[in-house]
Amino acid sequence: MEVVILPERAQIAALAADCVETLLKSKPQAVLGLATGSSPLALYDELAARHAAGRISFRRARAFMLDEYVGLPADHPERYRNVIEREFASRIDMAPDAVRGPDGLAADLPAACRAYDQEIRDAGGIDLQILGIGSDGHIAFNEPGSSLASRTRIKTLTPQTIADNARFFGGDRELVPRHVLTQGLGTIMDARHLVLLAFGRAKAEAVHQMVEGGVSAMWPATLLQLHAHATALLDEGAAARLQLAPYYRHAYAGKPPWQGL
Ligand code: F6R
Repeated sequence: MEVVILPERAQIAALAADCVETLLKSKPQAVLGLATGSSPLALYDELAARHAAGRISFRRARAFMLDEYVGLPADHPERYRNVIEREFASRIDMAPDAVRGPDGLAADLPAACRAYDQEIRDAGGIDLQILGIGSDGHIAFNEPGSSLASRTRIKTLTPQTIADNARFFGGDRELVPRHVLTQGLGTIMDARHLVLLAFGRAKAEAVHQMVEGGVSAMWPATLLQLHAHATALLDEGAAARLQLAPYYRHAYAGKPPWQGL
C-alpha cells in the first residue's frame, strides 16, 4: 500500500482529485466508487471546482456508492443517496441515472444486494474506489468481524459507529439507523484502484492497523494490504501512530514525478 502523509486537507483533496482527473482523461467512461461521510467532502469540493473551471467532465462516467442506511425515508437528508446528490452529483455533469446505490428501502434486501453486485459487474467493475475509514477500522460499513470475502449485504452498525455518526443526526444516537446495506470487502477488493482518505487523530489507531497490523477481520481495512493498488492519503493526525512514517515520507518525497499514484 502506498502511504502519503500531507499536512493540509486541501493538499490531500487535490492529490485525490488528480487521480480522478487523470483517470477521466484516459477513460471518460470510467466507473467511480463513492464514499459518504466527512472524509471525501474536500475531494468532492475540489472535483466540483475543477468541473466548474472546465477541467473535468463526468458526462460519460458512472458511479456506485459504497453503502446506504436501511429504512431511512426517501427524502431524509442523511440518506446516503441524498447526501451524494447534494455533496457531489448535483455539482457536476454526470447523467441523472449514472449514480447508483444500494436500495435501503427495497422490499427484498438480500435480492437488492445481489442485484447491486451484479450491476457493478455489468458496468465492468469499479476503476477508482474512494474510501474513508471508521475509527474501528471499518471500510464502507464492513464492521469488525466482517467476512473478508463478503459481497454487498446487510450489516448491523457497531455502537462505536452509531456514536461516530450521531453527529449527522443532531447528536442523537437513537436516530442513527441500526442497519445498513454495504458493499462487501470482496466487492471493494474487486475495484482496480483504492484511494482511502483519513483525517484526524481519531483515525490514527485504525490507520496504523490498516497499514502495519496483521490482516484480520478485527480491523477490516487491513484487507487493503492484499490489494495490488491501494493508496492511503493521510493528514498528520491520522498518520500519528504509523511506525514507518519516516520511510513513507522519504519514499513519497523521492517519487519520480511520472509515476503518479
Ligand atoms: C461511508 C463509508 C464509511 C466512512 C467511515 C468514515 O460511505 O464508507 O466507511 O467512510 O465511516 O466516516 P467519516 O468520513 O465521516 O469519518
